[in-house]
Amino acid sequence: MSESKKLWGGRFEGSTARSVERFTASVQYDSRLYKYDILGSKTHATMLADGGLLTKEELELILAGLTEIEAEIDAGTFEFKSELEDIHMNIEKSLVDRIGPAGAKLHSARSRNDQVALDTRMYLRDQCDILADLLEQIRRAFVVLARTYLGKIMPGYTHLQRAQPVLISHHMLAYYEMFGRDRQRLLDCRKRLNLSPLGCAALAGSGLPINREQVAEALGFDGVTANSIDSTGDRDFAIEFLSCCTIIQLHLSRLSEELVLWASQEFSFVNISDQFCTGSSIMPQKKNPDIPELIRGKSGRVTGSLMSMITLVKGLPLTYNRDLQEDKEPLFDTVDTVTASLAIMTELLANLEFQTERMEDATRTGYMTATDLADYLVLKNVPFREAHGIVGRAVAHCIERDCELVDLTLDDLKQFASVIEEDVFDVLRVEGSVNSRLSTGGTGLKRVEEALVQAEKIMGITQ
Ligand code: ARG
Repeated sequence: MSESKKLWGGRFEGSTARSVERFTASVQYDSRLYKYDILGSKTHATMLADGGLLTKEELELILAGLTEIEAEIDAGTFEFKSELEDIHMNIEKSLVDRIGPAGAKLHSARSRNDQVALDTRMYLRDQCDILADLLEQIRRAFVVLARTYLGKIMPGYTHLQRAQPVLISHHMLAYYEMFGRDRQRLLDCRKRLNLSPLGCAALAGSGLPINREQVAEALGFDGVTANSIDSTGDRDFAIEFLSCCTIIQLHLSRLSEELVLWASQEFSFVNISDQFCTGSSIMPQKKNPDIPELIRGKSGRVTGSLMSMITLVKGLPLTYNRDLQEDKEPLFDTVDTVTASLAIMTELLANLEFQTERMEDATRTGYMTATDLADYLVLKNVPFREAHGIVGRAVAHCIERDCELVDLTLDDLKQFASVIEEDVFDVLRVEGSVNSRLSTGGTGLKRVEEALVQAEKIMGITQ
């Protein structure tokens, strides 16, 4: 049995079992929130003093005590106690031990329920900013790659089968778009979570003369939450944050999968720099793309965290339940995982080399301009479905003769459709195919160049 007196111990006769203390403690991971907790407490105390609930002297003592505690935690000399459960109690108890009765006044008009909601919102708000910044950096890496390889052609795939030739830059800018949406989603999530729950107290609000708006403003919130019952039980801001992170990690995993494929001997489309690969302990020739593999693998834990959080909230009655303490580890793990994945992937991209000849060669086989031939026929007034059939037969003919469409003579082609003329060879060549795709958002060089210039402008890159 623990001998230490609990801050909430008034109504208890017996002391808490050690096993219970161990089981209920969260300080081993929620200590990560200490800076937010201390800042929240200082702001709360200032508001209490302004409202006459603390004297000036008491406020000074509290502020100085909290500053001291923060410095100790910074320095690693603060002693965290699991019997004090969480970061909030550890800090408060230490304050009371240092400054006595003034410290015991800090918790007026506040509960750990609104306190933990406050800390978590402040923490996630910062993480949204950090991740948004990392997303800008990875987008920039794609823009740089798009500029470097402008004009170079690669096979575009559907069903992982060669489909139509595209520009490498177009493919790079696809990721620029994806991570751009991810960033918008995070900033949108930030907007919704940037409201202060402090002063909602346990669940019903406070009967003391407090000023929630003052606290919210001082802490940089856009305002206060509207309903104390909602605010103490709500974790949908955390679910939303994890959803945003999951989508980021899924995008990273798709990119990773492409890099793993492209780095294989079968593709040989990219060279991932030595610094970003590892070897095999048994096979001396191996150079493995472990970074994209790990990022791809880590999408499992990020998705898992989202599942944990969703399951945690499902069926939970209003308002606060201790279950909600389980929100932290999935959040922290996700933040660590997505942050690290984005950062290292950005570095890898900055050192990535495309094997452009090999990529272009890959577009020369696989009848990749078949759709262009069909479009050519459409322009000669052949209905598309009919054109599709004609080209299908021409492809079958090529398969039989083991050649490509562009290898057929005009006479060969005319056998399939008499409207075909000499100009057909412009569209049968991959360059012609790519450059004809001038629809908005298409892979034609002119369109991609416009998109690239626009992206560079947004990223503040000057050529
Ligand atoms: N450690 C708790 C959590 O993270 C803080 C709130 C505890 N509130 C309570 N009434 N036990 O959820």
